[in-house]
Amino acid sequence: MLLTQNSLLQAEGLSRRVSPERWLFRHLDISVAPGEQLALCGASGVGKSSLLNLLAGLDQPDEGRVLFQGNDLAAMSNSERLALRRSTFGFVFQAFHLMPHLNALQNVMVPCLLAGLAFKQATARAEQLLDALALTEVAQSFPSVLSGGEQQRVALARALVHQPQVVLADEPTGNLDPETANKALTLLCNTCREQGASLIMVTHSAEAAARLDRTFVLTC
Ligand SMILES: Nc1ncnc2c1ncn2[C@@H]1O[C@H](COP(=O)(O)OP(=O)(O)OP(=O)(O)O)[C@@H](O)[C@H]1O
Ligand SMILES: [Mg+2]
Repeated sequence: MLLTQNSLLQAEGLSRRVSPERWLFRHLDISVAPGEQLALCGASGVGKSSLLNLLAGLDQPDEGRVLFQGNDLAAMSNSERLALRRSTFGFVFQAFHLMPHLNALQNVMVPCLLAGLAFKQATARAEQLLDALALTEVAQSFPSVLSGGEQQRVALARALVHQPQVVLADEPTGNLDPETANKALTLLCNTCREQGASLIMVTHSAEAAARLDRTFVLTC
């Protein structure tokens, strides 16, 4: 298949097998345009997180390819893929995966420092996002003492802070009360729009999905 016109991130013929007898999905095609916001929905266990991992090049497909700007992630060396991920992708993991030995502010600064930003600029950007997510009071706290919702908002700030071209967010508001979830989703959508970033967001909320441009439903 040819590269879909105006596609930033594209999967073609993508398959994921988790055991000899079990394919999560087979021959899946999905494409996201620059700046497009896509909701990824589907029942629990259908393979949404697995698909996000493939789209970010964190995992290798069993069939098919993932293309970023027409370049096959699997054809890149490990260091090329790592460099692309660091510069271009922001990822909110379903289980957060914050670094336990770094406080909230330091966790958010990491992507900026890896991208080569000066310490002062990285601090300023991280503080601004923590403030926007009402986390200033816990900026010096370590993940082990943060609530689930606080950890999730730190993870969200970390995914946005280096102004990535693609944000992959796995149920990024799933641990938040409705009001906080609404504010976090607004920040996520607006930040992506302002920066022209594409967004792929896993959600079980029809209301949240309706705020994005398009919904893709993953089925068995
Ligand atoms: N490496 C693996 N080995 C074996 N099974 C796996 C592996 N990775 C995922 N699975 C299985 O694949 C299925 C899909 O998992 P995944 O986490 O992608 O689902 P999901 O759609 O994100 O679900 P949820 O909405 O609950 O987060 C699950 O049954 C999971 O146990
Ligand atoms: Mg999941």
